[in-house]
Amino acid sequence: MPQRTIEVCYSPMLYPVYKSSESIVVVIDVLRATSAICTAFLYGAKKIIPVATVDEAFDYKQRGFLVGAERDAIKLEGFDFGNSPFHFMDEKIKGQTLVLTTTNGTQAIEAAKNAYKVVIGAFVNITVLCKWLSEQQRDIVLLCSGWKDRFNLEDSLFAGAVADELNKLEQPFKLGDSALAAMYLYQLGKADPDKFLLRSSHKERLAKLGLKEDIKYCLSFDKTPVLPVLEKGALVLMDQ
Ligand code: MLT
Repeated sequence: MPQRTIEVCYSPMLYPVYKSSESIVVVIDVLRATSAICTAFLYGAKKIIPVATVDEAFDYKQRGFLVGAERDAIKLEGFDFGNSPFHFMDEKIKGQTLVLTTTNGTQAIEAAKNAYKVVIGAFVNITVLCKWLSEQQRDIVLLCSGWKDRFNLEDSLFAGAVADELNKLEQPFKLGDSALAAMYLYQLGKADPDKFLLRSSHKERLAKLGLKEDIKYCLSFDKTPVLPVLEKGALVLMDQ
């Protein structure tokens, strides 16, 4: 059997280069979409329909769905939630189908939707995610949502954490240069990810909006041991 590979795609713009209907794609938006999605499942959401545009989100809202909508880290008026994990720690989401649109994270999910499988990754579910990935006989693309198609440090750091973990396996993956670079980055930052990200743009943006607790939560390991997977256009919990 050929050796499984890991590549890191540092921006959705680059995704056409890594795209393959045979690979597993892990969509990463540590601050904050993929952390919020994992949290919603931990608090009992049944399904999350990711949508790319605010118009689509609004349409669902008018049809009676609970809808989260965020742009530039701000909750949009008229919707039920923004994109803070804390918004989803709410009894009212139990058993519900939610809809979510965010600046970057849901766009990356949309871009990856034709992959073999699309799963959701963040520090808050890293152990469950890596365990599942380690059991798959498939190539992996770690897709960083970035910021408006630009590189961002926190998603790259997390991609590096996954590469680092999977590199410890007895039958390790072959890391492409993109994955090696992310792993080396993580090895530089892992002692204190929060400090390592001190000057990162989105961390600064969230801090200015008074969202320091969101940052702290999103950089915590294994707060939400769940694995969301995209099935027929909606995220559901993986049967493991
Ligand atoms: C996004 O999807 O762009 C982010 O999660 C932005 C945010 O922090 O709300």
